Amino acid sequence: MGLEETYLKQYEHYKRIYSIKEIESLDGSKSFEDMNIDDKEIIELETDNMQNFTVESQKGFVEQRIWAIEGLRKIVEKTFNEFVEKNASCAEFGSGAFGTLYNFLLPKQFKKNWKQFDINPEFVEHNKKFTNRYNKKAKIKEGDMYNMPLGDSSVDVICGLSSWDSIWGYQKTINEVKRCLVPGGIFIHLQDLLPAEAPLLLTEAKKRQDRGISPDFLCGFHKEKRNYFPGFYGTEDWLITMASIEKQDKLLRLGKYLTNHLEDIFKQNEFRILRSSEETYNTVIKRKTHMKELRNLGFCYDGPENVFLRAYGHNDCWNSNDLDKKSIRLISSMDVLVAQKQNN
Ligand SMILES: C[S@@+](CC[C@H](N)C(=O)[O-])C[C@H]1O[C@@H](n2cnc3c(N)ncnc32)[C@H](O)[C@@H]1O
Repeated sequence: MGLEETYLKQYEHYKRIYSIKEIESLDGSKSFEDMNIDDKEIIELETDNMQNFTVESQKGFVEQRIWAIEGLRKIVEKTFNEFVEKNASCAEFGSGAFGTLYNFLLPKQFKKNWKQFDINPEFVEHNKKFTNRYNKKAKIKEGDMYNMPLGDSSVDVICGLSSWDSIWGYQKTINEVKRCLVPGGIFIHLQDLLPAEAPLLLTEAKKRQDRGISPDFLCGFHKEKRNYFPGFYGTEDWLITMASIEKQDKLLRLGKYLTNHLEDIFKQNEFRILRSSEETYNTVIKRKTHMKELRNLGFCYDGPENVFLRAYGHNDCWNSNDLDKKSIRLISSMDVLVAQKQNN
């Protein structure tokens, strides 16, 4: 059984129809009881709110990735080596409070000509302090992916790590990607977190509304049990799959839904799709090598486990007797989309 099938089997516990009335915007300030999905209004709400998230809200992302980070790094390395020239100029959007792509995952040779942008001023300030402890030359600025602070045809690569999952105005950002990339330039979307729900739910609801059918559709959830304190349990629902009208109502894993959707819009905008896949890295490394570089950044893990899984936004670790004590098995995965702007 493949990694994705195993993941879906493990996490998808129940299915139900998700009604548009239940959908809320990213911060819950707008619900869609009036059934009206107004692109402009939602983009405005979204960009206002994106500027107000706290640095605290991003700490979990770093912790989640540490488990099998060497695997994520290999996937990024493979993607960049394949599609990006060594001295290419790169603009990263949605770099977050920790510059995770730049600091933890990107091979050195691509860092020389790299600019990070984020819409949230607090994230930018925090990222500057965090990154500059290790690399004083890093360029980090405020920048909105709906209105990129870049000239026409000015960069070779535009990319984001779990950044295009936080927006709703896909077409508006793709207009900007197209404007700012040089002819033949490359767009790279990497998704390793479980994507934010609201933009994808709205996307599917809107597609159905535009075709004159009910904007309610089937979704798959994982019910997580939470132990608040002894004897008191609660549950939290995690959206794991969504029916896609483009795929005859097949339930798609959220990261895959996002990659498929972005792929479709890039094609409509005359980009050539060079890669659209779930990349997996599965390897055995020496325990003392695990997180070697991350220790310099203050992270460490001293548990007894020897198998680490980081797939589609979820972590797991366990012990396997098949491995000697000095070795660790890492299994990591990411959704990857690479699209190229045409030359003319
Ligand atoms: C899910 S977080 C990912 C952060 C980081 N790349 C990571 O993987 O840890 C999404 C990031 O996109 C940023 N973002 C959201 N909307 C944006 C916009 N319109 N322009 C630029 N950045 C945006 C958010 O502030 C946030 O830092």
